[in-house]
Amino acid sequence: MKTTLDSIQARESQYVLHTYRRQPVAFVRGEGPRLYDVDGREYLDFVSGIGVASLGHAHPGLAAAVADQAATLLHTSNLYYHPFQAEAAARLSTLSGLSRAFFCNSGTEANEACLKFARRFWHTQGVSNRTSFVAIEQSFAGRTMGALSVTWDEHYRTPFEPLLGPVTFVDPNSPEALFAAVNDRTAAVIAEPIRGEGGIRPLPRAFSDAIAEVCRRTGTLLIADEIQTGLGRTGHPFHFQALGWNPDLVSVGKALGSGIPVGAALISERVAKTISAGDHGTTYGGNLLATRAATFFLEELMDRGLLDHVRSVGDHLERRLRTLALKHPVVLEARGAGLMRGVELRVDATPAVDLARERGLLVNRTNEKVVRLLPPLTITAAELDAGIDILDAVLAEVPAEVHA
Ligand SMILES: Cc1ncc(COP(=O)(O)O)c(C=O)c1O
Repeated sequence: MKTTLDSIQARESQYVLHTYRRQPVAFVRGEGPRLYDVDGREYLDFVSGIGVASLGHAHPGLAAAVADQAATLLHTSNLYYHPFQAEAAARLSTLSGLSRAFFCNSGTEANEACLKFARRFWHTQGVSNRTSFVAIEQSFAGRTMGALSVTWDEHYRTPFEPLLGPVTFVDPNSPEALFAAVNDRTAAVIAEPIRGEGGIRPLPRAFSDAIAEVCRRTGTLLIADEIQTGLGRTGHPFHFQALGWNPDLVSVGKALGSGIPVGAALISERVAKTISAGDHGTTYGGNLLATRAATFFLEELMDRGLLDHVRSVGDHLERRLRTLALKHPVVLEARGAGLMRGVELRVDATPAVDLARERGLLVNRTNEKVVRLLPPLTITAAELDAGIDILDAVLAEVPAEVHA
């Protein structure tokens, strides 16, 4: 029997837990920034699996490295050494300036590790009451109990309370609120340099400076959640570098494996010194396959000009989006950095996302009214133009007002 969208949907609705509202399309193949569905229709992918397919789809070099590793040795656990963990960790250290890496399997796990390491830091020093966290409104850190506790959206949190506490969420328009929230019980401030799921919202400069200042002044640890912003996405190795932050912990994921699941917590020396064998662990984390893929991605980023490429095409994308924002009354604002962009509409973004998909462009709705663009880091200016031309036509057709 031929596999069709209908047959896939029918089996999923019977057997897969209904935690996702999927769009009506099933993909079977990809090449660079393009995806092909079960019927052979081509799409330009400006979602990249939510910022994951950093090298595009079916990258020949990554495919060769992964196939070679699969045919050689996939996994041995953290009971033994292998060559690729140290290789990927050394590159992450060079890129971030933090001295060590702990590998895990997702962004959420990286944040979990950072939260634990922050508490461990204070515990090791005998400061047993510095256990609370300060997070930012509209933040997203993941869905496990710890990461969920520092995620802003109440819809995600409320059904699962009580969560890890205490956590104080601060309005990023109020540096004063941050200064008031950080006290002698705060283990760490956790912040995304640009809130991704929250609608591609850069932190106001005064607030971002306040984070750096309050952490420096009080010795509070800073966790930079760079799961979406990090590893070249914004045109910087890490976006905290553009903000002048000096974090003790940095969480990464998404782009690192370009589709092979891998995350990492990056750790400053002063925190690393407080952590001992047995404090944290994972069976899969940092296995040969994952860290070989991560190493390949990091080589592309650091040695083969990918970062410069993102800066140049990111500027091009910004110019195109600025023009769209001026042209279409439905657009409230275009914002972001590098290849991490959001176009906030005056209306719900669902019709625009659906229409774009029907025309062969994949974009993502986040925070209700925001069309999010996270194309592969390898995308060319011509490919960006092809996608933005589709978005341009779509925005001309989306009503600028909600009609009752
Ligand atoms: C900023 C940020 N933190 C954490 C996460 C969670 O990462 P993952 O879904 O890989 O567990 C995400 C995912 O969207 C994210 O964007």
